[in-house]
Amino acid sequence: MKVLMEQLKKQIAAQVAQLYTSIDHNELFSLLEFPPNVDMGDISLPCFKLSKQLRQAPVAIAAHIKDNLQLPGIASIDAVAGYVNFYVDKQLFANQLLVQMEQMGERYGSSQAGAGKTVVIDYSSPNIAKPFHIAHLRSTVIGHALKQIFAFQGYQAIGINHLGDWGTQFGKLIVAYQLWGDKAAVEAGGIDELLRLYVAFHEQVKEQPELEEEARQWFVRMEQGDEQALQLWQWFVAISMQEFERIYQLLHIEFDYITGESFYNDKLHTVVTELQEANLLLEDEGAQLVDLSAFNMSPALILKKDGSSLYHTRDIAAAIYRQKTYHFDQAIYVTDYAQNLHFEQWFKVIELMGYEWAEKLHHVAFGRVSFAGTSLSTRKGNIIKLEEVLQQAISKTKDIMQGRITDEAQLQQVAEQVGVGAVIFHDLSSNRIKDIDFTWETILNFEGETGPYVQYTHARASSVLRKYAAQYGEETIALEQLGEYLTEKTTFQVIKKLALYPAVIEQAASKLEPSLISRYLVELAQLFNHFYHEMKVMVDDQQTRQARMTLVQAVKRTLQRGLALIGIQAPDQM
Ligand code: ARG
Repeated sequence: MKVLMEQLKKQIAAQVAQLYTSIDHNELFSLLEFPPNVDMGDISLPCFKLSKQLRQAPVAIAAHIKDNLQLPGIASIDAVAGYVNFYVDKQLFANQLLVQMEQMGERYGSSQAGAGKTVVIDYSSPNIAKPFHIAHLRSTVIGHALKQIFAFQGYQAIGINHLGDWGTQFGKLIVAYQLWGDKAAVEAGGIDELLRLYVAFHEQVKEQPELEEEARQWFVRMEQGDEQALQLWQWFVAISMQEFERIYQLLHIEFDYITGESFYNDKLHTVVTELQEANLLLEDEGAQLVDLSAFNMSPALILKKDGSSLYHTRDIAAAIYRQKTYHFDQAIYVTDYAQNLHFEQWFKVIELMGYEWAEKLHHVAFGRVSFAGTSLSTRKGNIIKLEEVLQQAISKTKDIMQGRITDEAQLQQVAEQVGVGAVIFHDLSSNRIKDIDFTWETILNFEGETGPYVQYTHARASSVLRKYAAQYGEETIALEQLGEYLTEKTTFQVIKKLALYPAVIEQAASKLEPSLISRYLVELAQLFNHFYHEMKVMVDDQQTRQARMTLVQAVKRTLQRGLALIGIQAPDQM
């Protein structure tokens, strides 16, 4: 299915390429822009780059194009200051768009770009026995959105939760539990209690350094399959998972595989042998590492001197396993940028091992989250736990909405959708690489560029549609004739925005940037509210009314589906 705006761009590019045969139409296509301001056309071609290649002034090129192009679907062309501005035939465009949206229904905005390709997304990945804190949420939310965006683009998208369930820290936990732990206390206190034991270990080790050695040995025993060690470890995992599951339920998130680092235990041996055979392993004081100094990086540690594995080792084994199992075309890892070096290192090791698919590995890094100015660290109990944040978001939303919805059960449900949605939306509201600060005022603001604002706009559109149905019942609408009534400036802005939706999704996938969708939704909501305030929708004239209601319907659906794509629900009333 062709996408309207893109189709027009292609036609323009093809025609301009006929005027200037030395320039490739693909290059022209990439130069075409959607100007931010309506007075600059609907599609615009800056002629400055062309000017260098053609050795002509931009103004002259623009004038030449204006005088020599004629395109169905384009109503007029302007040449202004080195730009060619194309104005679409509004009526025709609106008709085509509404027909296309209707035909595609749920699939509007989707594509088959990824048909036959597989992308594996590693996200969320909290650490066992440590709280799932708000910084982990960003990985969860970005990864989940990417997974759905890719699926919408026709890819087979596989979501993997790479739990931090292996490593020396479990040796420490076992020691601490044996010294100071209590079964009932762990069962009652969950991760909090496990964390208390872990912190206590670090306190005590200052006085009793030999505990460190003991912990190390416990981890070695775990890796060797020691029954007692593994039983305790499994129990820590189960206790932690109960809490993680509650969060995933609140977020409505499911994974295809929850395979933590421990899943690769029996695959580590082969990796080490392979590295040895490729002459990549270097011994350093008994430890084994891959020297990366030629690439200006510190070495990747593969084995400690007691033979136990490390984070790197397990990531390398996991990547090889995933390539063998899923034959991925892309493997994506979503973590904060503090892990940049870690990923650069082991991606390089995969390349050095001779795997040509090394280039298919991508680290999708994101910025840090601070909470009202304070950074979120696991140290010193200064942790802000995600579950608390979500519960607070829900109760604050409930306060705001008290009185708007009288049915208590419905109020609770909507407060959950809006409160949780607000937190998710905030995490996706700016470029992922940016650090973000979390304050309740900015997140729950129903007027700002927030999730609740988009959800509220969706609910408003729903309510308009309900009133319309109540008053006029089922009116049969002939979509092909409605364009005529949708050409006013504010109305057509909404039409154009709707037409851009497929391109936004495509970009979100290619740039691995779900924030493009959240920003798009805010803008669509703003344009819609503008339209709604300026135009009455429920007018007496039947044609105009039908046309405007069709537009309301199209916006409502796009908001709802766009929100769903980034993991947010859209209540019909709020
Ligand atoms: N558990 C790690 C952490 O919390 C994140 C794991 C990311 N995924 C990976 N394959 N390394 O820092």
